[in-house]
Amino acid sequence: MTQLQTTEVPAAKNPSLAPPDKLAVTLIVNGVEQTLRLAPWTTLLDALRDHLNLTGTKKGCDHGQCGACTVLVEGRRINSCLTFAVMQDGARITTIEGLARNGVLHPLQQAFTDHDAFQCGYCTPGQICSAAGLLAEGKPLTRDEIREAMSGNICRCGAYPNIVAAIEQAMGRT
Ligand code: FES
Ligand code: FES
Repeated sequence: MTQLQTTEVPAAKNPSLAPPDKLAVTLIVNGVEQTLRLAPWTTLLDALRDHLNLTGTKKGCDHGQCGACTVLVEGRRINSCLTFAVMQDGARITTIEGLARNGVLHPLQQAFTDHDAFQCGYCTPGQICSAAGLLAEGKPLTRDEIREAMSGNICRCGAYPNIVAAIEQAMGRT
């Protein structure tokens, strides 16, 4: 019986097995231009947390289910775990760390504090960034519409009534 001979090709000599080169990615994060060299599969969330040390943005599910990772890209809210950093090359990103101005809390940060709109606080950066995107959309919303528009942001502590009250305050209703 003949034995099948296999010849192993070292990864370094086999281009199909070699890891792809890292890519230069420029992000304007909270007004500061940052150029990183990242593996192409690096999510925006991991770029922020692991490469820029901006750990305010939270990783909950890493699958687009919880909203803990919400940031603003060009003013629009997105789940940063669902986009690769290379896809946002050149974009302006705002994280929770970039919302306060000159030591003054963003109206949403103040409203969340005023309304005790959190318990553990893990979902809070994502809730606030999502609400900031919602406010920027500029639509007058009923309480139910706010709930619907914020439904992508899960709060496992169940602080929903306080979160809605805080958003209403930031919308200038209370
Ligand atoms: S960590 Fe991105 S949606 Fe949950
Ligand atoms: S405050 Fe704990 S998950 Fe929302």
